Amino acid sequence: MNDAIEEILGQLTLEEKAALCVGAGPWKTVSIERLGIPGMVMTDGPHGIRRSSDLDALITKALPSTCFPTASSLACTWNRDLLTEIGQALADEALSQDVNVVLGPGMNIKRSPLCGRNFEYLSEDPFLTGEMAASLVNGVQSMGVGVSLKHYVMNNQEFKRMSINVIVDERTMREIYLAGFEMVVKKSQPWTVMCSYNKVNGQRCSEHHELLNDILKKEWGFEGLVVSDWGAVRDRIKSLRGGLDLEMPGPQPANVQSIIDAVRNGQLDEVVLDESVRRILTIALQAAKATKKKDFDVDGHDALASRAASEGMVLLKNNGILPLKKINKIAVIGYFAKEPYYQGGGSSHINATKVAIPLDEIMKQAVDCEITYADGYTFDGSDQPELIDEAFMAASAAEVAILFIAPPSQTDTEGVDRLDLEINHQHVALIKAVTAAQPNSIVILNNGAPLVMREWIDGPAAVLEAWMMGQAGAEAIADILFGKINPSGKLAETFPYRLSDTPAFMNWPGELNEVRYGEGMYVGYRYYDLKEQPVLFPFGHGLSYTTFSYSNPRASTTAFKDTDGVIISVDVTNTGEVAGKEVVQVYVRDVKSTLVRPVKELKGFAKVELQPGETKTVSISLDKRAFAFWHPAYHDWVTEEGDFEILIGASSADIRQQIMVFLQSTRDLPCILDEESTFKDWLEDANGKIIIEPMYLQMKEQFNLMMGGETASEAMGSDLMGFILEMPLIKALQMQQSALPASADQIIHGLLLQAKMGKREKV
Ligand code: BGC
Repeated sequence: MNDAIEEILGQLTLEEKAALCVGAGPWKTVSIERLGIPGMVMTDGPHGIRRSSDLDALITKALPSTCFPTASSLACTWNRDLLTEIGQALADEALSQDVNVVLGPGMNIKRSPLCGRNFEYLSEDPFLTGEMAASLVNGVQSMGVGVSLKHYVMNNQEFKRMSINVIVDERTMREIYLAGFEMVVKKSQPWTVMCSYNKVNGQRCSEHHELLNDILKKEWGFEGLVVSDWGAVRDRIKSLRGGLDLEMPGPQPANVQSIIDAVRNGQLDEVVLDESVRRILTIALQAAKATKKKDFDVDGHDALASRAASEGMVLLKNNGILPLKKINKIAVIGYFAKEPYYQGGGSSHINATKVAIPLDEIMKQAVDCEITYADGYTFDGSDQPELIDEAFMAASAAEVAILFIAPPSQTDTEGVDRLDLEINHQHVALIKAVTAAQPNSIVILNNGAPLVMREWIDGPAAVLEAWMMGQAGAEAIADILFGKINPSGKLAETFPYRLSDTPAFMNWPGELNEVRYGEGMYVGYRYYDLKEQPVLFPFGHGLSYTTFSYSNPRASTTAFKDTDGVIISVDVTNTGEVAGKEVVQVYVRDVKSTLVRPVKELKGFAKVELQPGETKTVSISLDKRAFAFWHPAYHDWVTEEGDFEILIGASSADIRQQIMVFLQSTRDLPCILDEESTFKDWLEDANGKIIIEPMYLQMKEQFNLMMGGETASEAMGSDLMGFILEMPLIKALQMQQSALPASADQIIHGLLLQAKMGKREKV
């Protein structure tokens, strides 16, 4: 307990406490001068500071700030240090604009590539999401500025985002949707967590006692405050009871009054209010300690944005044309080469300090080279055959064509999901025409989420996924095209062949206010792996201008206790001609488990830089959680003793080395047998087996006795023991009731008691 906080709490009136729990304005929290309680300024967003020029207005033009690449791109860097650096830069800008809390990072899992806000989210994989977000959070918070992990939780679509009820099973929720948040809470203690608008299993997230109080605060030990997404509160009393500390935006005098009334009439226990106030005070006082700044290093941050953009860009395809060698004539095609499409729409939209233009950057680096330009399309993407003809001519007359392609305008945006994964008709026709005219064509993609490419992917010689690349992305594109930078981004999400291949396709986006997460934990590569479904570009994929070999995989020990974990090492050599960075990925596969598990799961990674010919050893630690799964009967993370395969790869589909290790489980789990447990369940339970095996063997013997020349199984033309194994034990007892000394019910309850108490008495 913090004495200073308790002292202030003791001096606050009920009215003041209630006021503190509701915002003072669109972006400000309440201050109480008489007690020196400062207000806080909270502003978007995840990849740049969107500080409203008028803090009393919800929507106004934002002050200029650096627009970094969006989360889709940042995740593809797989570079923890870089994310920390970006976090520090964000905090630096926040401090110069009097901002205390940055509303990000966005951590929702990319359940379907159709989610309109996927450009603001990191990955389809919870481990990668958690690692990248924690790195960013560490950066921001190291400077005395807070973050808001958002949107907690299962806000994986924009369709009915404010009302949809997500139906999800416990294991999926824990392993896929909560795991990333859990990692960041435990590693980085974010100042705030933002609850989402939607419902989960019938409960509004802003009132979700289990998610906010039980899991986030009690189980994970979250010490900060829970803030509502803007407007996510429907009932202020229910939300306080559910664990939502701060309602934003304000002012909402009626809600403040409702808190006062609820305490006075006994509807709300003041202890609940005090707990929220305590959390708000703690963060507000912490925020006040930061040293404000007058300005920030605009050019330095722009350079960082360029570096980040280049590390997030993923070279999807390259027949060897890249990096470009000496060329005399290049045709640059596409309106977006002049008007870059570099960020998405909605609350994360930044008023960039400056914006680099791809065409200009290419001209700067293409020395002694003639550059021609053709629009190819207009901003609205409408059919314009004459622009295609013009582009065709330009491409034919050049030695190389560089083609800028993006999805239809404003499809990467908050508030609306995409309808498909297509680029528009004009763009497809343009790619086909240009690549027919010019085999040396390079497609540059600017988008926030996967696109399908089957119609045209064979045409271009190279394809660079440049993402929503932020304000300095144009420079990064030129650096990669001309080989100044060797691309090192790897996909943080799978690119499917077609929309109907995607995991959530059958359950998207829901109807009648409800969406069922029917694919369960099989999201992203977990789904494609299990279905053996071919994809266009797998999770973890990304090409380089050099090659890497993996050798000498080893484990610190081949048999270990789950509580000790294990360290996996592998030697990586740059076998090409230029320096480069490789992302080494470690996946874990449980060889045999009692419950179904994904084929493999990412549990570690490292990015390593290597000069030509250089070898480095990469070591990655795997802790207990790397081997565990959430067991819905134990309501806990469980490891099972046995073999695990450690798969070391350059992508989820390019496993280069593997080793087998043996995990000794230290678990001591309670017995979960019940009245419905089958013979098989009893035999699989350590205590149950001792109790029931003699009876089982006796029945087996009886069935094997020759009756009229045949065994029972032969007489039935079936393996009768198979039937028995799937039968609830109580049923087997009931069938022999006349021979039993007590009722089947009584016997089962006695046996269950023995099994649960661990008594190994035989029947
Ligand atoms: C968005 C949040 C954002 C908030 C404030 C909401 O509509 O969902 O991500 O931080 O607005 O702009």
